Amino acid sequence: MSTLLSASAPTPSGNGNGDLASGQVLKIRGGRPLTGRVEVKGAKNLATKAMVAALLGETESVLRDVPEISDVNVVRSLLEVHGVTVQDDGEGVLRLDPRGAVSAHFEEIDAHAGASRIPILFCGPLLHLLGQAFIPDLGGCRIGDRPIDFHLDALRSFGATVDKLPSGIRLSAPEGLHGANITLPYPSVGATEQVLLTGVRARGTTELRNAAIEPEILHLIAVLQKMGAIISYEPNRVIFIEGVDSLRGYDHRCIFDRNEAASWACAALATDGDIFVGGAKQPEMLTFLNVFRKAGGEFDIHEDGIRFHRGGALKPVTVETDVHPGFMTDWQQPLIVALTQAEGTSTVHETVYENRLGFTRALNQMGADIVVHPEGFASPERRVPRRALEQAAVITGPTPLHGADVVVPDLRGGYSYVIAALAAEGESTVRNVEIIRRGYEKFLDKLTALGADYDVIG
Ligand code: EPZ
Repeated sequence: MSTLLSASAPTPSGNGNGDLASGQVLKIRGGRPLTGRVEVKGAKNLATKAMVAALLGETESVLRDVPEISDVNVVRSLLEVHGVTVQDDGEGVLRLDPRGAVSAHFEEIDAHAGASRIPILFCGPLLHLLGQAFIPDLGGCRIGDRPIDFHLDALRSFGATVDKLPSGIRLSAPEGLHGANITLPYPSVGATEQVLLTGVRARGTTELRNAAIEPEILHLIAVLQKMGAIISYEPNRVIFIEGVDSLRGYDHRCIFDRNEAASWACAALATDGDIFVGGAKQPEMLTFLNVFRKAGGEFDIHEDGIRFHRGGALKPVTVETDVHPGFMTDWQQPLIVALTQAEGTSTVHETVYENRLGFTRALNQMGADIVVHPEGFASPERRVPRRALEQAAVITGPTPLHGADVVVPDLRGGYSYVIAALAAEGESTVRNVEIIRRGYEKFLDKLTALGADYDVIG
């Protein structure tokens, strides 16, 4: 039975807190600027990893500012099937007690792994705790092949045996794990986290080269240091880890979610709105703010957040996604929606993932003029070295957008469709919207707070 709920009324949803639920469809009437204030909580890409780190402690951990998103729920379920008790104290505070940790059955793990990539990070902690681990095939956004070769090579370097099974990976390390010398072929966020979560309790020292250094990585290092780990963060992407015999629980407040903050900033650009993002901080967003300003956006930095609005006509930009401190790949999708309204031709080189521009097809259905070059292309002003798998999008604007019927392909693409529908004239239908709940908490409440005109069906 489908229920038509208007945005003017408080928007109940499957879980009653202004959030998206499975099977829901959004009917969006665009053409109105988004104005108002939203609060951004803890970063999805730190909170989930810090929860896994709690497995390594011998006492309870406390994690604060945890967002209410489905990726957190997936990790919570996986911890609980392994005997960790997770208590939600409300207000984003989770207490995680690993003292009852046990092996879990494959079926249980598989049932809870969800569409997430986080399960791969359970390998090291489970090997230290239980001497074995089973990790089902991973989910995660379909923005590329999402291989895990860097992870498996690292785990073998630590002394684990790794067997690829049709349904996932079985690992064992009956004699425990020893320190390793690892150089990553690419500064992979996940593989860096894999080495951190494994090296801290390995016998001896681990040396990691070409590591990722995103702010979320540094906060994971801070979490592990609070637990008793010895990790030195060296120049030139080098990390040394001195393995210790035991770790205790931590008490940590998550860094804010840069990806959500950048998403709402792009929403202000795309709809000619004015959005105050509470919790956003300038240092972690420097590169984004430069591009935002060059595209014609204005921002005001406050103690408690950042105000994003348009300064006038939007201007075309050339952007290359890259590892930190470059322009994050997670920021390009919402930005492209705004660039459809810029006066001129913009270029976005996506150098991190090989299939993260597919979402632009639906934007073209809405009236955008975006041409994707599947092999990318060289351009004189490039800063980031070309990668074999990169692609490029050329966006010519301004093009008025009109409503369409679209299906959400991935997390950031889904957010981008909603923003495009809000910027478009007329009504759009956006399906498969529950994917957005993987990374944006209380999404419907926030849309309502910003004056969006929409109905929830289902
Ligand atoms: C993390 O993914 C984030 N996800 C992604 O955010 C983010 O886009 C990405 O880092 C880059 O910043 C989480 O933290 C849960 P990678 P991750 O390993 O760790 C290749 C979002 O929207 N690679 O840095 O999976 C890979 O194919 C999500 O919040 C290998 O080849 O990213 C890609 O080309 C989307 N082999 C590149 O490295 C490996 O073993 C970067 O991937 C691992 C990665």
